[in-house]
Amino acid sequence: MTKPTVLLLGELDHAHKQWQDSIASIANVIEPKARSRAEFIEECKSGAFDSVIAAYRTFMSVAITGLIDEELVAALPKNLKFLCHNGAGYDQIDVQACIAKGIRVSNVPTAVDDSTADTNMFLILGALRGFNTSMMALREGHFKGSTPPPLGHDPQGKVLGILGMGGIGRNLMKKAAAFGMTTQYYNRSKLSEELSGGAKYVSFEELLKTSDVLSLNLPLNKQTRHIISTKEFEIMKPGIVIVNTARGAVMDEDALVKALEKGQVWSCGLDVYEEEPKVHPGLIANPHVMLVPHMGTWTVETQTKMEVWCINNLRSAVEKGKLVSPVFEQKDM
Ligand SMILES: *[C@@H]1O[C@H](CO)[C@@H](O)[C@H](O)[C@H]1NC(C)=O
Ligand SMILES: *[C@@H]1O[C@H](CO)[C@@H](O)[C@H](O)[C@H]1NC(C)=O
Repeated sequence: MTKPTVLLLGELDHAHKQWQDSIASIANVIEPKARSRAEFIEECKSGAFDSVIAAYRTFMSVAITGLIDEELVAALPKNLKFLCHNGAGYDQIDVQACIAKGIRVSNVPTAVDDSTADTNMFLILGALRGFNTSMMALREGHFKGSTPPPLGHDPQGKVLGILGMGGIGRNLMKKAAAFGMTTQYYNRSKLSEELSGGAKYVSFEELLKTSDVLSLNLPLNKQTRHIISTKEFEIMKPGIVIVNTARGAVMDEDALVKALEKGQVWSCGLDVYEEEPKVHPGLIANPHVMLVPHMGTWTVETQTKMEVWCINNLRSAVEKGKLVSPVFEQKDM
């Protein structure tokens, strides 16, 4: 019997043993030769991947294939039935186009929760305390700076507003509690008492009006693009601090820069940007904001967990014709 074929899009960095044990033993693994989107589409058309039934893809493989949009989905190998994405957010993939072509998509939930929520907490503290200015001053040989930085604020007693109460939001809530913050949240549907851990459910508007710190923890899709823009900044509690580890485009970056300039937003902590790797010059020029370059899951432990999770999806697809963690849009399929 011939083994089924799987396509590896991107690099495997940590879980080599798991890959050998779970995938290499049950499938032929092939990798594209293409180094660009045009070459990849050509390679698909050439029939080189015609035997492929499932693919494993990394976030970084976008550098070769480009977005998995309608055009790319149309070009994907004709027998491909499963696309296993190694990441929590899957905004690089047009799920509706995949559904139309009969392709099942999986992502990697929960494995990312701790490291992303840790980054979130780091950004909350950094933005509240204004640590960037002083860290830079020290490196430039001025210790606290020739004029010391403005005093920061404590997290204790502050209200944390979480927009999007999925795994990361709930993990953050627990961490924030250890710092003396109380959490309120908005999610499209209210959570069960047990899941919400006692956090108060408020309307979207109420969340903006009454939170001292607003954390964005929702996925990016057509409905959430620019969910935070000028109109929203205008009704926020003056002096609010905003942190984002989700996706840059859930917030209008230009409007954020303006709100920071006006002082409506006191500071922000960002891990993600609208046009990565480009960062808005208004953010770069602002010494007070805390900026990190998409480091949310950038740890050995989490990257390993994510690879293992994605491998489990791929193995299940090959062996059982079923994904372990299908994306939300395909939960009922
Ligand atoms: C941090 O502060 C320094 C010194 O004020 C500034 O030059 C730098 O741009 C700031 N960094 C960020 C990422 O805002
Ligand atoms: C948050 O709302 C979304 C959309 O209605 C829902 O799918 C999700 O399950 C909710 N989150 C939780 C943890 O209940």
